[in-house]
Amino acid sequence: MKQMLRDFSNLLLVVLCDYVLGVVQYLLLEQPTHVALSNGTVSVGLQNYDGGNVTLKNISILLIDASTNQTVAEKQLRHSQYQDIVAFECFHFKSAGKYWFKMASEITSGPGSQWNEETISLSVMWPVFHFDLRRTSEGLGSSLQLQLFTNEYLCPLNNTVLSLEIILTNSLHRLGTLILNETVGLRTRKKLSLFRSQWVKFDCLSFSQEAYVAVLLKLPVTNSIIASAEPIDLLHKFGYKLVIATEEEICESSVTVSVIPPPCISSSGYVAVFKDRLGSLGQRTLKLHESIMNPKDNQVEFNCALFDKGINKYCFEFRQLKQVDSQPKAKECRVIQRNVGLYYLSEMLHLKLSF
Ligand SMILES: *[C@@H]1O[C@H](CO)[C@@H](O)[C@H](O)[C@H]1NC(C)=O
Ligand SMILES: *[C@@H]1O[C@H](CO)[C@@H](O)[C@H](O)[C@H]1NC(C)=O
Ligand SMILES: *[C@@H]1O[C@H](CO)[C@@H](O)[C@H](O)[C@H]1NC(C)=O
Ligand SMILES: *[C@@H]1O[C@H](CO)[C@@H](O)[C@H](O)[C@H]1NC(C)=O
Ligand SMILES: *[C@@H]1O[C@H](CO)[C@@H](O)[C@H](O)[C@H]1NC(C)=O
Ligand SMILES: *[C@@H]1O[C@H](CO)[C@@H](O)[C@H](O)[C@H]1NC(C)=O
Repeated sequence: MKQMLRDFSNLLLVVLCDYVLGVVQYLLLEQPTHVALSNGTVSVGLQNYDGGNVTLKNISILLIDASTNQTVAEKQLRHSQYQDIVAFECFHFKSAGKYWFKMASEITSGPGSQWNEETISLSVMWPVFHFDLRRTSEGLGSSLQLQLFTNEYLCPLNNTVLSLEIILTNSLHRLGTLILNETVGLRTRKKLSLFRSQWVKFDCLSFSQEAYVAVLLKLPVTNSIIASAEPIDLLHKFGYKLVIATEEEICESSVTVSVIPPPCISSSGYVAVFKDRLGSLGQRTLKLHESIMNPKDNQVEFNCALFDKGINKYCFEFRQLKQVDSQPKAKECRVIQRNVGLYYLSEMLHLKLSF
């Protein structure tokens, strides 16, 4: 017996054996687990040893979905009724769960015959999908790009096989309810084909000062969840950014501060400017000015007259409207130069060097 089993040396474990009318039957699985939607095939090995007088007939291997008891596929033996390997292609395993392989054979012994059914089980798991969110290049953050990728090689299935759901809310607290109840909330649904990596763009309103996103990847037929992303805090992930621009090297008219909000988050708020005292890092003088941002262009302009003559460092801070915590959402410092007489400038430089 050992000698014959050597042919199955690449097949592992899960040996199932039965003794009927002197026939010993084995079913073997290469691996007890498989990844759904992956391109791997599942091979089932089979070995029969008859007891001399009996003949085996009509042996087939059935693949059964244990959740429904439905036969997914049936394969006849090709080479021998006694020893064969039958391969089930990847497209039979579109869903995770438990499957059975059943060997059905007719055993004839002299006058009598009897049906024999052996089963062996296979656990099928979902592939691991990863998600990543990026800003889109366009506009004022009213859309997001989601990357979806897996390290598995995937089964070449033509049709739309995945359904992606993106849920957006301004309340982390509500997100759990929104995930469970499909009739509520801001939800974007997309049908996807199966690729190892793909980008999906979705639009969002810049409606609030906070935004949380949950991503669900589902199998449309059964609505089962293949993968999901933890609630993603867009404010935390992307943050606000400030871009400070003066038209000229030396400030003559104004300094423009542009606010780049996180995607799907409102840009409303105000920008304050502080003077950073030379030489004393981190220590700040009084707020010079504060201005509500123009929601049309996300910009605030500061007149150059606000800034002292000479070369000084200023810090700009953005705060959201009604922001309660003390930390600004974005901060950016910049040296601003204003024109002065030559004498004064040289005095300044001298002063600076002496620190
Ligand atoms: C799965 O796909 C990869 C890449 O195309 C290939 O190298 C590998 O042999 C495939 N595996 C099977 C079992 O077909
Ligand atoms: C084979 O069949 C013969 C006659 O039917 C019987 O005498 C014998 O015991 C059988 N052998 C086995 C191993 O079943
Ligand atoms: C068994 O196989 C024979 C021919 O090989 C066929 O005529 C018969 O219908 C099969 N029986 C079953 C139950 O499949
Ligand atoms: C499938 O069949 C087995 C045995 O025949 C039974 O125990 C089980 O409850 C069935 N499952 C379903 C989902 O019908
Ligand atoms: C995919 O489509 C091609 C051509 O349209 C076809 O030949 C192939 O059999 C299809 N594959 C599957 C798994 O449906
Ligand atoms: C989903 O939300 C709607 C509207 O609030 C409600 O009527 C419905 O009962 C909820 N369904 C479930 C399953 O909670």
